[in-house]
Amino acid sequence: MNRLVIVSNRVADLSSSAQAGGLAVGVGDALRQRGGVWLGWDGQTLKYEEPPEPRIRKIGPVTQATIPLTQQDYEEFYLGFSNSVLWPLFHYRLDLVDYKSDFLDGYRRVNGKFADALLTVLQPDDVIWIHDYHLIPLASELRQRGCTQRIGFFLHIPFPPPEIMAAVPKHRWLVESLLDFDVIGFQTNTDLGNLQHYVEDQLGYQMNGNRIKIDDREVIAGCFPIGIDVDAFNQMAQQGNEEVQIEMHRRRVLGRQQIIGVDRLDYTKGLPDRLRAFGRLLELFPELRKNVALMQIATPTREEVEAYVEIRKELEALSGAINGRFADFNWTPVRYMYGTVPRDALAALFRASQVGFVTPLRDGMNLVAKEYVAAQSIDNPGVLVLSKFAGAAEELREALIVNPYDSDDMARTLCHALTMPLGERQERQQALIDRIRKKDARWWLNTFMDALENNQYTPANC
Ligand code: ADP
Ligand code: G6P
Repeated sequence: MNRLVIVSNRVADLSSSAQAGGLAVGVGDALRQRGGVWLGWDGQTLKYEEPPEPRIRKIGPVTQATIPLTQQDYEEFYLGFSNSVLWPLFHYRLDLVDYKSDFLDGYRRVNGKFADALLTVLQPDDVIWIHDYHLIPLASELRQRGCTQRIGFFLHIPFPPPEIMAAVPKHRWLVESLLDFDVIGFQTNTDLGNLQHYVEDQLGYQMNGNRIKIDDREVIAGCFPIGIDVDAFNQMAQQGNEEVQIEMHRRRVLGRQQIIGVDRLDYTKGLPDRLRAFGRLLELFPELRKNVALMQIATPTREEVEAYVEIRKELEALSGAINGRFADFNWTPVRYMYGTVPRDALAALFRASQVGFVTPLRDGMNLVAKEYVAAQSIDNPGVLVLSKFAGAAEELREALIVNPYDSDDMARTLCHALTMPLGERQERQQALIDRIRKKDARWWLNTFMDALENNQYTPANC
């Protein structure tokens, strides 16, 4: 078996019990199975350039190779082109784009820097798998430096339709760079279809089945929905966490139900809309007051980008307003926590919550939806309420699917979820767990590797 070398902007700390972000969790699960190298930014910013050699650290079967960025790289590449241009645009939020031409220079420069660092660790028989929107031009940078290994790419976030892509400065260059990979993976068929439209209509290439012919090369473009390690997550949920158990017991005695939301505090996650829908639930169904609470855990993320500062303020004001309006001396309707929770506590909280409320306005996949399902017991499962704009909705069809822009629809669906009879909950849970087991972390890794190493790809029914 060839050595697998993974590259992503951020490398997760595999020795830590808390991880936030689908890439960190998904890639972590996959790499633990196969072993290999994971190269990326160490999260540090320096005043001066350092030599390209990464710092090496071994954690079980995984070798982590990390590099710092300069303050200028951080501002132009990370905060700038990656998170103030590509992130909002790829999530269909043209209104939040904040572009300066330095950002594009920084984006190109840092992709070159990643290529230089990677060359210092690469071996001739390696296969390279690059992840996410920060590193779209990396294959092209590597080829320019003479790299001949097979190189794959997986996009964790949505790929927008051509009309939206057209708003990305130098979008033709960006998509042409994407085509320098040997395999390009997307989360959903919608994303794949959007790429097909772009390459056929804007670039004039033909896509036959899942192959795009470019001169004498062929690129595979496919749909590989990311999955989780279902058994490991279920076990964590079963083992429980003492504090969560005590709290669950207290709620049981009081006869109260819990709705849970867990996200990075990102404007794509639809958090204000979620809170408004919960407020609407309490308005429309007064009999539920005192019997239900919403727990929202939100991890800080990209706090130096203005749009994230705004969304945090909005969320805090909204949760305060709902509590001010409805709370009683012995009942707090919204429990809002700004922080990151260890994975075992998260799994136990999912299991102890009657509804998983996952309402992004746009999301590549959304692993929280899959984790909520994985954490349930079939004896008394909770109900997943899922936005139709999450990539996961293409697969998880037995969830209660909602429109996150429609608070009344969400409020009624929440009421339906909270009152759903056991038999129906079990039927839905069985169907959902079968789906996430079929396309789990191992399936994701193996199917992508089959395309990358063996040039084999059969479209998954996703
Ligand atoms: P994204 O990649 O956009 O953050 P996903 O839902 O795909 O969204 O992945 C988020 C991952 O991060 C999940 O594994 C989830 O459990 C974890 N996570 C999100 N918020 C928190 C939090 N507050 N505490 C702990 N883990 C979190
Ligand atoms: C999402 C993105 C990842 C990113 C993560 C955390 O999951 O798809 O590429 O790493 O969010 O964001 P951050 O900006 O902190 O790396």
